[in-house]
Amino acid sequence: MPNTSHIRNALVALTLVALSTAACARDTTSSGSEATDTGTVTIACGATEQWCAAMAKGFEQANNGVKANFVRLSSGEALARITAGKTNPEFDVWHGGPADGYAAAAEQALLEPYRSPNAAAIPDQFKDAGGHWTGVYAGAIGFCSNTKVLAEKGLKAPQSWQDLLNPALAKNVAIAHPSTSGTAYTALWTQVTLAGGNQDTALQYMRKLHPNVLQYTKSGTGPAQMVARGEVAVGVLFAHDCVAAKEEGFKDLEITFPSESTGYEVGGLGLIKGARNPVTAKKYIDWALTAPAQEIGATVKAYQVPTNPAAKRAPQVVDLTSVRLVNYDVLQAGAAKKALTARFDAEVAQAPKS
Ligand code: G6P
Repeated sequence: MPNTSHIRNALVALTLVALSTAACARDTTSSGSEATDTGTVTIACGATEQWCAAMAKGFEQANNGVKANFVRLSSGEALARITAGKTNPEFDVWHGGPADGYAAAAEQALLEPYRSPNAAAIPDQFKDAGGHWTGVYAGAIGFCSNTKVLAEKGLKAPQSWQDLLNPALAKNVAIAHPSTSGTAYTALWTQVTLAGGNQDTALQYMRKLHPNVLQYTKSGTGPAQMVARGEVAVGVLFAHDCVAAKEEGFKDLEITFPSESTGYEVGGLGLIKGARNPVTAKKYIDWALTAPAQEIGATVKAYQVPTNPAAKRAPQVVDLTSVRLVNYDVLQAGAAKKALTARFDAEVAQAPKS
C-alpha cells in the first residue's frame, strides 16, 4: 500500500516530469473463466457520467470488436453493489472513485489482484502494492463558492475549515453524504487526519458543520450544481468538479483550499473477483492506464490529474503542487470506512434515500 507522503511527492513529480509512453504489452491470462468471456466488459463507474460514457466509447474504438457497458455509481453505492454480487458478480471492472473504497473492497476479497503491464508507467505511489487497484487520476477537496451569493451576505470565500463553520453560512453549505459518496468520505477522512487520527474529533467537526449544511447529496458532484444555481453559497467537493461547473458557464464560481490543508483522492481501477469477462476486463484496465485513454477526461470536462506521466494535461487541470495536502492514508481510510460512515449516519445525518 502506498506511503502517503510519497503520493504527495509524486503529485509534485507528475507536474514536472514527462516520461515516454508506456509499452502496451498485454496479459492474456485470466482470473476467472476465459470460456465465459463474451467480449463485453461491464464497468461499475465512479467517475462522472460523461467521462464514463467517453471511456466506454474510447475503449470500443481502440479495441475492435469489444463492447463496454457501464453503470455510474457513487463510491458507497458501488461498494454495496459489488458486495451484493460477491458470489455472482454483476460487474467486471470498477473504475473511478477514491481508492479508499477499493481498499475496503480488497479487505473483503472483492477485488482480484491484477498487475497490468501498463501499470509500469504509473508511479508506485498511485498503486496498491498488492495489485488490487491502480490509480488513474488524482484530485483534491476544495471549497466551491458562488461569489454572488456570498457577496449578498457580505462574505468572502472560505479560506479554512474553521471559516466553513461561520454561523453566517447557516443552511448555505452543500456536501455529499459519506455513506454514499467517496468525495464526502474523503472530506470526512481529511477531518480524521487533521485531528491526528481521532475519529471522535472529526465527527464533532461534522456535527458543528451540520447547521450550515442545507443538503447532503448522494453523489459528490451534487453540491457543484447547487452552488452553481445559487441554492447555497459554498460546496465542499473535489476542486476539479468546480472547474467543470465553471467551464459549463457558471462564471461566479470561485475555488479556494483550506489553509489547514486538505484531503485528496487517487481514483482507482480494479478487476472484480470472479468477473465473468476477465479477458475483456483486463483489456479495459490495460487500455485505461495508457496516456491516450487518460487524455479523454479533459475532453468531457474531467480535470483530474492523470496518473500516467506521459498523458498531456489540459490547462484546466488543477495544479495540486500549490495546495497544502494532508497525509491521506488510503489503507487506513478504507479499513475505517464501514464503521465511520455508520457513525456518521447515527451521529450526524442519515444517508439520503435514493
Ligand atoms: C466525481 C469526481 C471524481 C470522484 C467521484 C466520486 O465524479 O469527478 O473525481 O472520484 O466524483 O464520486 P462520489 O459520488 O462517490 O463522490
